[in-house]
This record gives sequence, structure tokens and C-alpha cells, in this order.
Amino acid sequence: MVGEKSGDEIIKHRMMEHWDDDYKRYQEKHKISENLVHYGPNCPTEDDLHLLGDVRGKHIAEFGCGGGQCSIALVKRGATCTGIDFSRKQLEFAQGLAEKSLDAEQRGRIQFIWSDLERMDAVPDSAFDIGFSAFCFDWIQDFPRLFAGIRRKLKISGFLVFSLGHPFYKCLDEQWDGQLPPKLKNPYFQREDWEEDEQGRAIRYKIPTLGDLFSFLADAGFQVERLLEPEPINSKGSVEAWDFSDDYPPEVARYVPVTLIIKASVK
Ligand SMILES: C[S@@+](CC[C@H](N)C(=O)[O-])C[C@H]1O[C@@H](n2cnc3c(N)ncnc32)[C@H](O)[C@@H]1O
Repeated sequence: MVGEKSGDEIIKHRMMEHWDDDYKRYQEKHKISENLVHYGPNCPTEDDLHLLGDVRGKHIAEFGCGGGQCSIALVKRGATCTGIDFSRKQLEFAQGLAEKSLDAEQRGRIQFIWSDLERMDAVPDSAFDIGFSAFCFDWIQDFPRLFAGIRRKLKISGFLVFSLGHPFYKCLDEQWDGQLPPKLKNPYFQREDWEEDEQGRAIRYKIPTLGDLFSFLADAGFQVERLLEPEPINSKGSVEAWDFSDDYPPEVARYVPVTLIIKASVK
């Protein structure tokens, strides 16, 4: 019962409902490729960045896998993947896509687990060589808890690669008025924003600064190896991977980085 939940749990419950309601629009609009491992809008893909290395034979956990496209692309490259998400609708979509786009041998190397990333009891510990996530941590409410959980799921030799919306970009008004340079809306140090979804639900975004992210990772036992703020590219591959150009106008992206990518290894 929603009435019995604490404030944070009510917000989390709303976010799950949001994704169950929104998954169809999200998948239809963005037509995400299951052949490419994407990081963000107009952003180079893994084929350009090579942050994961040779994934053949590796066990990969994808945190916030959504429709499963990146996990499927990684399985096609020889990995064994576990996609984790808290939207049952996204996971149903992912399962259907895996059945359509993978052969029987490949299907044996993919599974999906329903779980909140901040409470991953259903996911085995010390099981993964690589943790991966694309544009999901924007929804995370408790980063120290998230990174401590991920650390437990990785092997000692493991590493984590994730992308999320750049915290500086989140200072801008999301409704661009066509002016350049773009106008700031929020202070960089606000660390939180609220938005109403299409159903009128109030969604809370936690927005760590770059420094916060670095500290959260270090405190959870990670060492940051790479930090990327890719400039927008308009190659066919980047648009094919994940077409988000309506939401992130390339003109604005030339002023302020849209995507932040971090690679961190277990200390
Ligand atoms: C913007 S989508 C990204 C999905 C996928 N990585 C992609 O690139 O298409 C964000 C995803 O994160 C999931 N998500 C958000 N918060 C979560 C949480 N706390 N635990 C598990 N999944 C979460 C949502 O259900 C949604 O599928």
C-alpha cells in the first residue's frame, strides 16, 4: 500500500509506475539498436570508445537495461549478460527482443532480473567481470547505496562503465527557447530537481556534481580510470544507436556536454 510507504519509497514506487507506463512511448520514439552499445544522444558508441575491451567470455551485468538493447548487442559480441531493471514492462520488452534477435546459443547467454538497483538482493554477489549502464543512473536516488551494491556484484578484478546525463547539462532549462548560448535554469550545486511526468506524477531527480560522483565511487571501493565528456557527433552510427536528437538539440550540446561517461575499477 502506497500509504504505508515512507517518503523515499513513495517516490521510488512512482518512478517504477512511470517506467511501466512510459516504456512503450520510449521504445517507439527512440528505436534503439540492438546491434550497438550506446552511451548517449549523439554520442560515440562502444565501437568508437572501446571502454569495455574484448567482451568475449566475460560476464556482464547491465544496470537499468530497459529494453535490453545493449545487453543483446554485448551477447552478440560474445559476452554473457544479465540485464537488471525495476520496470516489468521494460523487461518484458527486453525478453521479447532477445527472443527475436538472438539465436538459441546466444539466448542461453542472456537473462533478465527484476530488481531495484538500490536493493539488488536477487542478483548474485562477486559474479561479474564488468558492470555497465547507459543513461539509467539519472534515476538513482541513493548513489552511495547504488555503488556499494554494484561493488558487491563485481569480481575483485572487475570494473564498471556507466553513462548518465552530464550534471552541467542539467543546469539548463530542458525546454530550449532557441537562444544561444543556452540559459541556465538551476544552480550546479542544487543537486536535486523535480519534474512532472505525463500522468502528473512528481518525479525527483538526484543530480550529483562531478566531485560528488568521484567521492561516492571512491567511498564504495572504486578507482576512477577514465572520465569522458564526448562532444556531439552526428555520425549515422550514433543516431542509429539511440536517436534522442529531439530532446537534446545538437546546437545546445555544442555548448554544454550532454553525456558523462565514467570507467572505474575495483580497488
Ligand atoms: C532512460 S532508461 C535507459 C534504459 C537503457 N539503459 C537504455 O539505454 O535504453 C532508464 C531505465 O532505468 C530503469 N531504472 C530507473 N531507476 C531504476 C532503479 N532504481 N532500479 C532499476 N531500474 C531502474 C528504468 O526502468 C528504465 O528502464
